[in-house]
Amino acid sequence: MSEIKKPVFKPNKEFSKNARVKNMCEYNDLQDWATEDYEGFWEHFASEKITWKEPFTSVLDESNTPFVKWFEGGKLNVAEQCIDRHLDKRKNKAAIIFEGDRGDKQVITYLQLFQNVNRFANLLKNKFDVKKGDRVVIYMPMIPEAAYAMLACARIGAIHSIVFGGFSAEALKDRIEDADAKVVITADGAFRKDKPYMLKNVVDKALEGSTPVKKVLVVERNGEDIEWIANRDYSYYELINNESDKCEAEVMDSEDPLFLLYTSGSTGKPKGVQHNSAGYILWAQMTMEWVFDVKENDTYWCTADVGWITGHTYIVYGPLAMGATTVMFEGVPTYPDAGRPWKMVEEYKINQFYTAPTAIRVLHKLGENEPSKYDLSSLKVLGTVGEPIDPPAWRWYYEQVGNSKCAIVDTYWQTETGGHIVSPLPGATPIKPACATLPVPGIMAEILDSQTGEKAEVGETGYMCITKPWPAQIRNVWGDEERYKKSYFGDVKKDGKAVYFTGDGAVYDEDGYITITGRTDDVINVSGHRMGTAEVEAAIKKHPNVAEVAVVGKPHELKGEGIFAYVVLKQDDGVADEVEEVKAINAVIKTEIGNIALCDDMVFAPNLPKTRSGKIMRRILRSIAKGEKITQDISTLEDPSIVKIIEDKVNS
Ligand code: PRX
Repeated sequence: MSEIKKPVFKPNKEFSKNARVKNMCEYNDLQDWATEDYEGFWEHFASEKITWKEPFTSVLDESNTPFVKWFEGGKLNVAEQCIDRHLDKRKNKAAIIFEGDRGDKQVITYLQLFQNVNRFANLLKNKFDVKKGDRVVIYMPMIPEAAYAMLACARIGAIHSIVFGGFSAEALKDRIEDADAKVVITADGAFRKDKPYMLKNVVDKALEGSTPVKKVLVVERNGEDIEWIANRDYSYYELINNESDKCEAEVMDSEDPLFLLYTSGSTGKPKGVQHNSAGYILWAQMTMEWVFDVKENDTYWCTADVGWITGHTYIVYGPLAMGATTVMFEGVPTYPDAGRPWKMVEEYKINQFYTAPTAIRVLHKLGENEPSKYDLSSLKVLGTVGEPIDPPAWRWYYEQVGNSKCAIVDTYWQTETGGHIVSPLPGATPIKPACATLPVPGIMAEILDSQTGEKAEVGETGYMCITKPWPAQIRNVWGDEERYKKSYFGDVKKDGKAVYFTGDGAVYDEDGYITITGRTDDVINVSGHRMGTAEVEAAIKKHPNVAEVAVVGKPHELKGEGIFAYVVLKQDDGVADEVEEVKAINAVIKTEIGNIALCDDMVFAPNLPKTRSGKIMRRILRSIAKGEKITQDISTLEDPSIVKIIEDKVNS
């Protein structure tokens, strides 16, 4: 292996002394326990961490694999896990600290959270007729009411499906219809960079024509004018104080669904990833404790948006399940300047800070020296998530933000895994830059050879798999069992048995550490957000002048990956004004998906490189986008000369 060995950074000794997992011996003991007695391991933690209304009678049922069941017979309510059980000890403790874009602040104690969530739950039940099992779409900005909405659904047994506020009306409509949601919870809008932006008008558009949605609840955040549709739209603030702050929690089975979250796959249609109650909340809490090692008086901040899985597990469910104080931030990290996060770390004495490599790269670029202007001495653990972090960004984060004393937990996981699966434990694992290191205890994560299903050799890229079901595993693709089986259990077998394949490639180093090398499928990772190339292609094809399109990822300095589209127009007489054509196509993408899917590069070509059977050779397009020399055999192409034509266009 020619790769230069990565340096190793040992955990901070002072920190390790009080950490939940203090050294590698303790880590190995946990992992050995799970390996030797898998069910015993999980039985122990499920009994210890969850306040059961009725105890479970079995740990894991694999009889209908891959449709597994965890903790059957057990009864609980996830909102009670996150709130009620803390009231004895933590009634006046801050559950959520909110900071708005413009610096407005709110501290919500556990008691206030209890009252707000119960009122919200009563409102959904009484006024909106939401019952156990109903789907509720949440299309909200980063305000505390988004968390109340999630927990209110959990309290009454409704299944929430959050749609990220950056998605367009079309994307929202698709998700509403797929989930057959009866209620949408939204806001008029919110603030970004001191200016109001709107959400309610997007909901209005998404509900045009036929829709399963009967009612819309609107939280007024920015006070801008919006349209109110009689008997459909209701004001949160007009109604909420009429509701009682006591709402009996629905008794839920361990395997009752908790939420859906749509994510991109390798087809044009997003998948409704389904997570169920007990296994998910157990893992959310355990990983909070192990990976961030949050202590009773700590203040923890994750900068994600509740519209993504990170916001679900590590802003709302995980921190609240363990009774922690979680910070919620409405704004953007670079406004009013790239010192904003560090100012907040100083002000709130943040102990654990968790963000995406894209944010780190931007903060590094725009504010290299900003961290030194603030007192960041409260920080103990720094986290990254969502995409590979490059060594220069890692170093800056470690040295300038963490003052070379904080552990960096490079947490690898996905929407489907519910919580972390590969990550350092901050008091135990010696870390290496840009390396997710080792499986979290209890997770049987292995890199397998794609052909043989054997464990991959050191230095050989293989498939990142999980070889045993884990409690927070995706349970289904909403309404599509076949897709669930095919998407995750179709590609890799170990000892003849289908195992969960993440879709990522990964490699072991000589210490057995895991480095994620990126997706092996047609999914690209833009600023830590998953985007299916097929989804973007389907959007571009809606432009009436587009005959064919192929979308690939291309390395991007800040976003990790950018979106590169090769477009063949219907009239093959050249493009009159390429700039206008790019704008027109991007406008279609904005309507169909949202700004997050806009193309960074677009090239018009007379044709695409295809095999004689008509398959587009994306590998060639990826190489061209990266500016690599084409080394692969192109003689099998229907028209090999197209490669040179496209190369010339890209390089011109
Ligand atoms: O490719 C991996 C990448 O993000 C994908 C999951 O995306 P999503 O479901 O949107 O969840 C993002 C937040 C968990 C993975 O399949 N990914 C996630 N974390 C890392 C990562 N790639 C490298 N290193 C990571 N730490």
